[in-house]
Order: sequence, then structure tokens, then C-alpha cells
Amino acid sequence: MSDAIIQTDHSLSTILDNLSTAVILLNDDLNIQFINPACENLFQISFKRAYHKNLDDIFYINDQFNLRLKHSLETEHPFAEHEITIDSLFSGKLTVNYTVTPLLHTGSKSYLLIEFTHLDRHLRITREEKLINEQNATKNLIRGMAHEIKNPLGGLRGAAQLLERELPDKNLKEYTQIIIGEADRLQNLVDRMLGPKIVPQKQDINIHQVLEHVRQLVLAECSEGIHFNLDYDPSLPYFSADPDLLIQAVLNITRNAIAALDNNGEITFKTRPVRHFTIGHKHHRLVLQIDIMDNGHGIDDELIEQIFYPMVTGRADGTGLGLSIAQSLINQHDGLIECISQPGNTIFTIYLPLELNDA
Ligand SMILES: Nc1ncnc2c1ncn2[C@@H]1O[C@H](COP(=O)(O)OP(=O)(O)O)[C@@H](O)[C@H]1O
Ligand SMILES: [Mg+2]
Repeated sequence: MSDAIIQTDHSLSTILDNLSTAVILLNDDLNIQFINPACENLFQISFKRAYHKNLDDIFYINDQFNLRLKHSLETEHPFAEHEITIDSLFSGKLTVNYTVTPLLHTGSKSYLLIEFTHLDRHLRITREEKLINEQNATKNLIRGMAHEIKNPLGGLRGAAQLLERELPDKNLKEYTQIIIGEADRLQNLVDRMLGPKIVPQKQDINIHQVLEHVRQLVLAECSEGIHFNLDYDPSLPYFSADPDLLIQAVLNITRNAIAALDNNGEITFKTRPVRHFTIGHKHHRLVLQIDIMDNGHGIDDELIEQIFYPMVTGRADGTGLGLSIAQSLINQHDGLIECISQPGNTIFTIYLPLELNDA
């Protein structure tokens, strides 16, 4: 039969199954004979549905594409293109590199193998790596500075106390008190810049407990003009995490959303599972996605690149620590925070790995 190449060659289909690049096998009528799981994922179509279909039923590249495929079959010449935009029927616009390879005849049949490398995914991982590296670099800088400030600060405070005891005039105490008070304030700030040193106390939790806890907390503090929408996926499993740290992270993000809403607007909490997701260099089979969305004024393009850095704030009364602390708490759970924003729609997304025993 036409799919003999797959049926007769088990090792070939095993190899294709395990490739992380998306692969499509076509017969000489350009009907789909096989797609591998990476390809099912890329185009959001199952092998069953794709089988015997034409490529047009799955995606469109350009008008010449089918002609080039035919030509490649006839001449047995492979071809390739880079950074091509594909309109996929089920997964939208994708940027890919692809190569087309005519396969040697088996009997009288010839086949074409198309291999896709999904570039958006590469770009995303590179961007993520850059983000994590930058955050680590800044964090180290801040930590170093905070330590340098802490030591002289202790000396300053101690000296002010000694001086206070020796003062001949009690009225002058007012000034030493200012020194001590300000040293304490700086000390407090530096401690917060150094971030929580807490070791996570992990237990089996459900993410919705965390979100509900935060919602109750902020409902008590915010005005009645703010409404919460909940879009929870109840099938999400329990996972191992420190509930207090996650509450703090979600709270920091949610408080920013409330500040952006100016007493009037909507906040949405949404949870979903995501399969096959890479955070940094690590691939996870299952990841939890938490979206915290608001319809407030949004974040300016210049600011958004920096909001996770400590001391970056867009508010006169802000400390700029909320998001950098949230980021560090999520990092302690091997997770990631991302943000996209436009006026009327700001989304902070937290990803947390769900594998319980991931070595
Ligand atoms: N949901 C949001 N909508 C609009 N701006 C936001 C939002 N979340 C964060 N921001 C911006 O990011 C800045 C940094 O936030 P954060 O680190 O929590 O520090 P702070 O809240 O003390 O300013 C905020 O000052 C604000 O300008
Ligand atoms: Mg904040």
C-alpha cells in the first residue's frame, strides 16, 4: 500500500516519532502519509486527521510551494528555505525553516520528507535565557551593593548611639535619633533588596488555594469598583511548592494590577496546564500556567523591559521591589514570570513545573 514505507520500516517510524523537529511524509500525489508527534504539536492536528489529506488542508506557505514539491520529486533534488512564514489553519502564523528531501524509491513509489524547525520557539527560548541571565546579573549586583551598604550602616548606627550617650545637651538627641532612624530605614530597605532568604518549605498544594487566598486578601483592601473573574482549570493536579512564597509572588503581581486599575476595573485569574514546555534549558512534560490579567492602563514599552529589575518603579510611591521579589520567589520554584501589556490588557504569566519527582 501507499504507506508501506512506514509500515515496513518500524525503525524509521520510531526515529520520526522521537525527533523534536516536525516531519511530514508525502507520497507522489502529495498526500500526507505520516506526520510525527512534533508535527502534530506544531500544526495542532492529529496524525489521524492529517492522514491522506493535502498540505492545503493544514497550512499555506506560498503559491509556488506545491509546484516546487512536484519538481523536487521529479528531479530528486532537495530544497530548503529559511525564515518562512506559514499560515497554519489550526495554529496561526508560524515562522519556520524547512527542508524538503525526496526519498529513494521503494518499489515504484517515491516520497517526500518535509522537515520543519520552528523558529518562534527558538526565539522564545533565547529571549527567556537572556531574561534569566540579565536578572541574575542584576540580582548579583544588587546583592553585592546591599552587602557593602549594610556594614558601614551598622557602624554608623552604633556610633550615633555612643554619641547620644555622651551628649551634654538632651535637645541634641533629636539629631542622633534622626541618624538612628534613617539607618534603620536603610537597613530595612537593604534587607528587602537582598530578598527573602527563606528556604522554601514545600508541601503538596493546589494552585487554586493560593489564588483564592490572594483574592480574599486583596478584596479586603481594594475598593468595590474592582471585580475578579476566575477561570480555573479544576483538573490541575496538586504539586510540590511553598504556599506562602507563592502567595507572596501572586500578591505582589495582583497589587500592581489593582494599582493600575485606579479603583475601577477587572482582574482575571486563569489557570491552565501546558504540555512540553521549556523553562531556561530545562524541558518539562507538564507545566502550570497562571495568568493574572487586568484591564488597567498597561505598562509603557520603555518600562516593560525593566520591570523585573529591583528598584524599577513607574509610581511616585513605589519601591520597585514587588516584581523582583515575585521573580525570585518563582525562580525558587524553577518557574518563570513573563509579562505582556497594552493599554487595557496587561497579562502576567507564571509558569511552574508540575512534575513531582523531576530529577
Ligand atoms: N499590572 C500592571 N499594570 C501597569 N503597570 C504595572 C503593572 N504591574 C507592574 N507595573 C509597573 O511595574 C512597576 C514595578 O512594579 P513593582 O516591582 O511591583 O514595584 P512598585 O509596585 O513598588 O512600583 C510598577 O511601578 C508599575 O509601573
Ligand atoms: Mg508593586
